[in-house]
Amino acid sequence: MHANATAGTLRIEQLVKEYRPGQPVLKGIDLAVSGTGLTSIIGPSGTGKSTLIRCINRLVDPTAGRILLELQGQRVDMAQLRGSALRAARRHIGMVFQEYNLVERLTVLENLLTGRLGYLSAWRAWRRRFEAEDVAYALELLQTVGLADFATRRVDALSGGQRQRVGIARALMQRPAVLLADEPTSSLDPKTSVEIMEMLREQGRARGIPVLVNIHDVELARRYSDRIVGMTGGRVVYDGPPPGLQDAHLRQIYGGEAWLA
Ligand SMILES: Nc1ncnc2c1ncn2[C@@H]1O[C@H](COP(=O)(O)OP(=O)(O)O)[C@@H](O)[C@H]1O
Ligand SMILES: [Mg+2]
Repeated sequence: MHANATAGTLRIEQLVKEYRPGQPVLKGIDLAVSGTGLTSIIGPSGTGKSTLIRCINRLVDPTAGRILLELQGQRVDMAQLRGSALRAARRHIGMVFQEYNLVERLTVLENLLTGRLGYLSAWRAWRRRFEAEDVAYALELLQTVGLADFATRRVDALSGGQRQRVGIARALMQRPAVLLADEPTSSLDPKTSVEIMEMLREQGRARGIPVLVNIHDVELARRYSDRIVGMTGGRVVYDGPPPGLQDAHLRQIYGGEAWLA
């Protein structure tokens, strides 16, 4: 496993994504995150939050713009990378998914050792040899996320909250410079959601890396974020600390009035 990454600086400039020509979903996003702290991206369904997160690690190819990532003193543009250079850069970006993206029939430990963002196929995962150092680190991370006793359990026997802890531990396994999470609490009950947000915030702090979370739950975002980015219609319309997010912003972001009552 590669050396510990230093905290990443991520700078997105004029990011545009069109799934269909002439119909941009992201209409020129500028966003920079660095140091430590949790940033939540809020906004209505279909506004491009997942597209934005997925452009950062290139699960989605951007149409235009730059995604500059500072890694150990070197700056790469994620939007331009291809092939092995892309795979290498991607390893510095941890990703947590709404639906966990774990391999159900593998154990928790195997998921940590093979998961790699869910980029590896299960077949390739099976063929991999595990190094003792990686196993030790995986067990340490399972302790960190409160799953020390679950290493040899199959994932399909776990609850949603436990699965998401595995998802977080798997992302941390890469020693990421940046941690991304796409609606990490949407499949979970309120109490578990709070635990997962706490864990994301704590792990970001402990490692000194920025955490970027898509979340449509405004109250959870307010409670756990150092910064909130409000998106609507493919643009950023609010960017600041939670207390600055007023009803007027929420009306602009989500539209309407009745739901604020
Ligand atoms: N793979 C895709 N192909 C075509 N359109 C897509 C694809 N993924 C998302 N979209 C469209 O892009 C828009 C933004 O989607 P998404 O990024 O998932 O928004 P959010 O995460 O905020 O709900 C939506 O209109 C969605 O239908
Ligand atoms: Mg989404």
